[in-house]
Amino acid sequence: MTEIQIHTAAVWTVIALAIVTFIYLSRITAPYGRHYAGTGWGPHIDNRLGWVIMELPTTAVFALIHFAGEAAWNLVPLVFLAMWQGHYLHRTFVYPFRTRTAGRKIPLTVVGSGVLFNSLNAYVNARFISSIGEYGADWLADPRFLLGAAIFLTGMALNIHSDNILLRLRKSNDAGYSIPQRGMFRYVSCPNYLGEIIEWAGWAIATWSLAGFAFFIYAAANLAPRARSNHAWYRQRFSDYPAERRALIPGVY
Ligand SMILES: NC(=O)c1ccc[n+]([C@@H]2O[C@H](COP(=O)([O-])OP(=O)(O)OC[C@H]3O[C@@H](n4cnc5c(N)ncnc54)[C@H](OP(=O)(O)O)[C@@H]3O)[C@@H](O)[C@H]2O)c1
Repeated sequence: MTEIQIHTAAVWTVIALAIVTFIYLSRITAPYGRHYAGTGWGPHIDNRLGWVIMELPTTAVFALIHFAGEAAWNLVPLVFLAMWQGHYLHRTFVYPFRTRTAGRKIPLTVVGSGVLFNSLNAYVNARFISSIGEYGADWLADPRFLLGAAIFLTGMALNIHSDNILLRLRKSNDAGYSIPQRGMFRYVSCPNYLGEIIEWAGWAIATWSLAGFAFFIYAAANLAPRARSNHAWYRQRFSDYPAERRALIPGVY
């Protein structure tokens, strides 16, 4: 098998996993955060440590594969590397230390499946931008790059802003929940997920690649069912939860 064939098989594996994940998570809610049951799903570790381990391949594996590529030091691959790492260095090394999840744990099965998927996805996307894809410096002026980068940055701003609103709801070190009222939470229960999905749509357009599209599909397949579960959880937990609020897409879903 040539490397292109291996890479193509990996890309289609991500797309197949997106379909499986969507079906699975539409029936079973992943047991972390508010849906953490405390038992089952094998051994558990500290929630914050679990997040760092789970997200580590998105930075480390991605960087290793990127710099093994022939075009790693060309301008456009470096811009893509900066976009990717801009998201994932924050997600791996900043975000987990800002959460107030005292005493909460996460099952190793969730962490392990995250590590496996993130490693595969790091290969799929890093290998494409630094080796398989062909990007001249003029790609930075291409409408697809400009539109994709703008969408990516918009999604990132929504994701971080919405996560910040949630993190500020917990003033002390307790792990309680309240109804978020600010920002896009006025319209949907999970604007942080919406921002994340928009980000990877932007990535897919900016890289104009099946690799980027596969990850966008996976992110949506992973986060849409969880948004539904979070939305149902809010409605069940708070009798005064705003009735007009939707799960993920304002006025639609
Ligand atoms: N690309 C992907 O496929 C993917 C997959 C998963 C997550 N992510 C991203 O990772 C980030 C975190 O995901 P998540 O599923 O943990 O998000 P989440 O359920 O919205 O929780 C985010 C943080 O806010 C806390 N929190 C949530 N709702 C709260 C409320 N009503 N009151 C007080 N605190 C609240 C949570 O605490 P608890 O943990 O104690 O509930 C957690 O620390 C998001 O930005 C998401 O987009 C991306």
